Amino acid sequence: MAVIKTIGVLTSGGDAPGMNAALRAVTRSAIFNGLRVKAIYRGFKGLITGEIAEFKTQNVSNIIQQGGTVIKTARCQEFHTPEGRKLAYDRLQEEEIDALIVIGGDGTLTGARIFASEFDYPIIGLPGTIDNDIYGTDSTIGYDTALNTILDAVDKIRDTASSHDRLFFIEVMGRDAGFLALNGAIASGAEAAIIPEITTEFDQLEELIKFGFRKSKNSSIVLVAESDITGGAMHYADRVKNEYPGYDVRVVILGHVQRGGSPTAYDRILASRLGNAAVDAIIDGQRNIMMGIDDDQVVAVPFSKAIKNDKPLDRELLKVLRNLSI
Ligand code: F6P
Repeated sequence: MAVIKTIGVLTSGGDAPGMNAALRAVTRSAIFNGLRVKAIYRGFKGLITGEIAEFKTQNVSNIIQQGGTVIKTARCQEFHTPEGRKLAYDRLQEEEIDALIVIGGDGTLTGARIFASEFDYPIIGLPGTIDNDIYGTDSTIGYDTALNTILDAVDKIRDTASSHDRLFFIEVMGRDAGFLALNGAIASGAEAAIIPEITTEFDQLEELIKFGFRKSKNSSIVLVAESDITGGAMHYADRVKNEYPGYDVRVVILGHVQRGGSPTAYDRILASRLGNAAVDAIIDGQRNIMMGIDDDQVVAVPFSKAIKNDKPLDRELLKVLRNLSI
């Protein structure tokens, strides 16, 4: 196996709070271990176009608390093609980058896996997405911060909802995964969460009404996960207007506000641990794995597992939400 002297690091896909903390951890840990670090701007796009700069420890000073990603991110169509990936590989050779650490969500890890197997190239992934939809890790970098942003917003909406006796459908992100909606609903004391994982099993709106939704309450809050499967918050608001007139309904789509903000302590610590572990793994000769957290222990998850498996939703959480929303 070739000796690793220089590692490349990039962030890709939707940004997530804590990506900067992960970048800092990778950079500092690599330098601590005598490696050179090259930061690749705009994800795989920058790898193809050559937007690359060597990073020293001071390049990552004062970023642990910043949301977004200072090395930018992109969703790169060209990297989906064999030609694009070949250009990326050539660039790595030219820059003498011996291994790569990629920070991103499902799409990023999928791209990394294809690339790693096509070129037999060492890559370690870090799960960076607010969606928390990556198998093999209890949490992804950015999820906790987004959850807290949702709570902050829902708490404020509750003030106006109860003043007017209104029903609010609040749409949260998640890209077809209900983690933000379900845990956001439990933590904010919302009445229900409409999530893709169970929308296909039964009509959640009908269930809500059937079980005496709002029997003892005037205002109500329902979190809806954005997804083609749920149809989103507007869809449910329209249904209530048509099927159950009498409710005074409003819709809020939280949108990209959920992606910004200073990372929570949890996300900073998670990003620091996983970033440090990724460098250790590279030095150790490991490749094609994602570093994750399981029962508060850092674990290595093969790309094949992390990408292919759907992360299961804990059904106990559904019960907690239902039992506590009476
Ligand atoms: O994957 C993160 C995420 O924020 C999803 O929750 C959301 O569906 C998507 O990205 C939005 O992507 P964009 O920023 O490209 O609109």
